[in-house]
Amino acid sequence: MAILVIAPGMRTVSWVKHLKAIDPDLDIRIWPESGKPEEIEFALVWRHPPGELRKYPNLRCIASLGAGVDHILRDPDLPAGVPISRVVDRSMARSMTEYVVLSVLNYCRHFEAYRQDQLQRRWKPRIPRRTRDVRIGIMGLGQLGGHAAATLVRLGFQVRGWSRTGRRIEGVISYADGKQLDKFLSATDILVCLLPLTQATERILSRRTFAKLPPEAYVINAARGRHLVEEDLLEALESGHLSGACLDVFQHEPLPPEHPFWRHPKITVTPHISSLTDPKAVAPQLVENYRRARDGKPLLNLVDMQLGY
Ligand code: GLV
Repeated sequence: MAILVIAPGMRTVSWVKHLKAIDPDLDIRIWPESGKPEEIEFALVWRHPPGELRKYPNLRCIASLGAGVDHILRDPDLPAGVPISRVVDRSMARSMTEYVVLSVLNYCRHFEAYRQDQLQRRWKPRIPRRTRDVRIGIMGLGQLGGHAAATLVRLGFQVRGWSRTGRRIEGVISYADGKQLDKFLSATDILVCLLPLTQATERILSRRTFAKLPPEAYVINAARGRHLVEEDLLEALESGHLSGACLDVFQHEPLPPEHPFWRHPKITVTPHISSLTDPKAVAPQLVENYRRARDGKPLLNLVDMQLGY
C-alpha cells in the first residue's frame, strides 16, 4: 500500500521527512511519479489537478494537507465514495489566532498610520481604540474561529460569533444561522471571516453584508478568497462605509500584479500565510489515518460531504 503526495508547487521534502520519521518503511511517492496507479491507497493532496484522483482505483482516503477541503471538493471528477479527511491541529489554530490578534491590534493601535507617519518623520499620537469598546464579530466558530474568539475574549474585547449551529463559547455572544446574521453584523466593528468555503458561504462578504455593519467597520478575511466579492469591498472602502481591510486570501493567488488591492491605502495584503500547516505537527495524524485506512478502521477528521467541511 503506497501513499501518494499530490501537491503541485509545494515543497514536499519536509512532508516526506516527517512522515518517514514516524515510519521509515512508508512507501511514499510524489506526484507525478506515482508508479502503478493500483498501488496507491492513500493520497495526501493540496490543490491537485482536477480529474487526477480518479486514476487510482484502490484509493481508500483523500487527505487534505490543510484545514480546508474546498480545493478537493471543487474537483467535479472526484472518485465516488472515497472518504476525505482534513487537518485538525492546535498549532494551526494558534497560528490563525496570532494572525487575527495581530490584525485587530494593528488596527486598534493605528500601526499602519504610524508607519506612514514614520516615513514622513511625523510625530502624531492617535487615541487607541480601547479593547473594551471594540466589538469583534467572528464568522465561523470551528477549530480556528473558536480558538480566536476565546483568545480575544481574554484580551478584553467584546466578542460575538456567528456560526451554523450557534456554538457556545464562554464570554462570546453567539448567533446562529442566516436568521441572526443581520443582528450579528449590526453589532460588529471588526468582522473576521474564518468560515469554511461552501456553497452557503461563498460570496458572503458582499455589499449586502457590508451595508449591515456599522459605519467605519473593519474587515479581516483569513478564510478563502471566494468568500469575498472583491468589487463590493472596493466600493465600501471608496464610500467610506468601511474603514479598511486586512486580507490573507484572494480569488486568484498569487494576487496578480495589476490587482487594485496591492496599492490600496486602506487594504493590508498578506500572501495566504495566516495559518500554514506544520508538517512536523501534522505528520502523526496523517500516519495514524493511513494506518486506519490500511486496517479498515474508522478514519479521523472526516469531512461531512453534505456540509462540505
Ligand atoms: C490553508 O489555507 C488551509 O486550508 O489549511
